[in-house]
Amino acid sequence: MDFKRILVTAALPYANGPVHLGHLAGAYLPADLFCRYQRMKGSDVVFVCGSDEMGVAIMVRARKEGVKPQDIVDMYHPKIKEAFAGFGMSFDIYSRTTTQVHSETSQDFFRTLAAKDVFTMKTESQLFDPKAGIFLADRFVVGTCPTCGNENAYGDQCEKCGSTLSPMELLNPRSTLSDAKPELRESTHWFLPLGDFQTRLEEWIATHPEWKPNVLGQVKSWLQDGLRERAITRDVPWGVPVPADVALTKKIDASGKVIYVWFDAPIGYISATKEWAIEQGKPDEWKKYWQDEETRLVHFIGKDNIVFHCLMFPAMLMAHGGYVLPENVPANEFLNIEGEKLSTSRNWAVWLHEFLEEFDADLLRYALATMLPETKDADFNWSEFQTRINSELADVLGNFVNRTMTFAARFAKGKVPRLLNPNDIDKYTLKEMATFPDRIGSAYDRYKNREAVFETMALARLGNKYFNDSEPWHTRKTHPQQCANAIHISLQICASLAVLMEPVLPASAQKIRDMLNMSSVRSSVPAEKHGGLDEGIGWDAASKPLLDEGHVLGSSDILFTKIEDSVIEAQKAKLGNNPAHMEQELPYTPIGDVITYDDFAKLDFRMGTVISAEAIPKSKKLLKLEIDLGFEKRQILAGAAEYFEPSALVGQKVAVVANLAPRMMMGMESQGMVLMAEGRDGTLSIMQSSGEDGAIIK
Ligand code: 2FM
Ligand code: ZN
Repeated sequence: MDFKRILVTAALPYANGPVHLGHLAGAYLPADLFCRYQRMKGSDVVFVCGSDEMGVAIMVRARKEGVKPQDIVDMYHPKIKEAFAGFGMSFDIYSRTTTQVHSETSQDFFRTLAAKDVFTMKTESQLFDPKAGIFLADRFVVGTCPTCGNENAYGDQCEKCGSTLSPMELLNPRSTLSDAKPELRESTHWFLPLGDFQTRLEEWIATHPEWKPNVLGQVKSWLQDGLRERAITRDVPWGVPVPADVALTKKIDASGKVIYVWFDAPIGYISATKEWAIEQGKPDEWKKYWQDEETRLVHFIGKDNIVFHCLMFPAMLMAHGGYVLPENVPANEFLNIEGEKLSTSRNWAVWLHEFLEEFDADLLRYALATMLPETKDADFNWSEFQTRINSELADVLGNFVNRTMTFAARFAKGKVPRLLNPNDIDKYTLKEMATFPDRIGSAYDRYKNREAVFETMALARLGNKYFNDSEPWHTRKTHPQQCANAIHISLQICASLAVLMEPVLPASAQKIRDMLNMSSVRSSVPAEKHGGLDEGIGWDAASKPLLDEGHVLGSSDILFTKIEDSVIEAQKAKLGNNPAHMEQELPYTPIGDVITYDDFAKLDFRMGTVISAEAIPKSKKLLKLEIDLGFEKRQILAGAAEYFEPSALVGQKVAVVANLAPRMMMGMESQGMVLMAEGRDGTLSIMQSSGEDGAIIK
């Protein structure tokens, strides 16, 4: 299908903390590359985003800091917005979900679905924290994931295996607010019966075999398991209120009930588009982007958001009627940092605002684009960052532009010389140059950003090779016209680069355009007025020479400076170092309820030796241990895979809870438990002890 316009969304980040590289790699950089490319291509694009300010994630943060949820979002929203701007995110609007337009839009949506009798209602027992006086929805409760055994799964989702959960499904639930044990209390809620949409969703997904395998894989496994209803209201004091009129028809008091954040957040994309339309002075303009079939709707997200964007939100849109469904949801996997899982509490993260204090945004855009987790989890490491900048941006791209400019200034009077009687290398190079807009563009269009960036650099490599092969430093004396031709063609490659680099290196592309004194190149950021997008030199024009003979060039400037080792070492040293504000985030767990000596005496601890240890396929967390207790051997599954190499455990003395009832995990029996000390940051260490196998510990 040929689309008339494109609506791009990037996941609304929770306004409960600053943005880091994990966010950028998941959703934002890919979305921005796509939008900038499409604008250069001349497409009609609207790119919306904003802060996700409702939901329990915000409340948890507010509780931690002892302030109100509104204070949290008021603090982080402007920070996030500013960091995104510094990174060059070319949003048409960056809104937030505490606006009036958003609460009205969400409530209207809810009202429409209620009027169509889409929802079901149920009164159920729910976890309630008697100390905090609050129902433990979503992230207020953590516990063990029934699917993968992750002990820190949230009440709405396990971030390890991606399962969506409800608080009642967690094993050993615990309140994140207090040390009180959750109690059960009844409450009535609205549910979205996703099962009713199973067939429609299956049929629709079947029309998109082109989606990324990582996305289709998750979606199909959800569909295979059968979709279940999801509660879409909550009893918490922060969120978009359930419309009172709707509640009244059900004879329910809506006060204190709010719409679940995963119901209102995607509607945030619609609200943001409405706000954008109002800003444009055409309040109805949003409808075209959401309700006209000829819109290509693309959601950029990280993999933990797949189910919400590929199943739940589409079901909501289907239920409402009159809306387009996403044409693609190119979700990325996760980004590790220096080989380790990103962790904000351990400060194992690279924060965008801190990066921007020391480096130009273009450097990160480029390096990160080469490392994007497009098909599987990927790793950002500082040494590779340095190599990308020094050996690619500086040595290839920067060097080529610099040599070309220097030669043009010295031997062509700072003008584009005439091309006359080109030889075979000249002709071949121009023919090659002509292929790049399609090569790079088709990669962006297929969401293959790594490939697009590789192809962009291939054009600079072509330029460098051409410059080397044509040896203008020799021909300048022997064959001046050949030298002039070499300068001419090198300048044309620089000009094409100045267009085709725009998505990934917008500031550097502008710098080259200034050096070349090139004006009238189309903008990759939102046009002031829509409709003006076709003006100027666009993407496809970069296949042809863009500079006229005799065109006067600007003055040359250094594009990229190399990054010293010491700078990289300083960055590495920051990782895992908790600045003062981070330490406060790691409280000591309060002491548990008092037990009697008899309670304690029930536990039978024994010494043992690990005889074998192996990773369990499909489980990131669990290790399968065989332990010799002297009198017998046990198979024990320990949630230690993230902290120990299996081989490092073999031969270790361990303390075992030997009379724990066996339980099944990942289809295997675990016959006891190995004692470990868990630090405040979640790191595990073995309790060191000696004693013969089987010795009683008391
Ligand atoms: O996972 C998150 O960070 C969510 N705040 C993403 C929301 S995306 C959309 F639906 F708003
Ligand atoms: Zn899990």
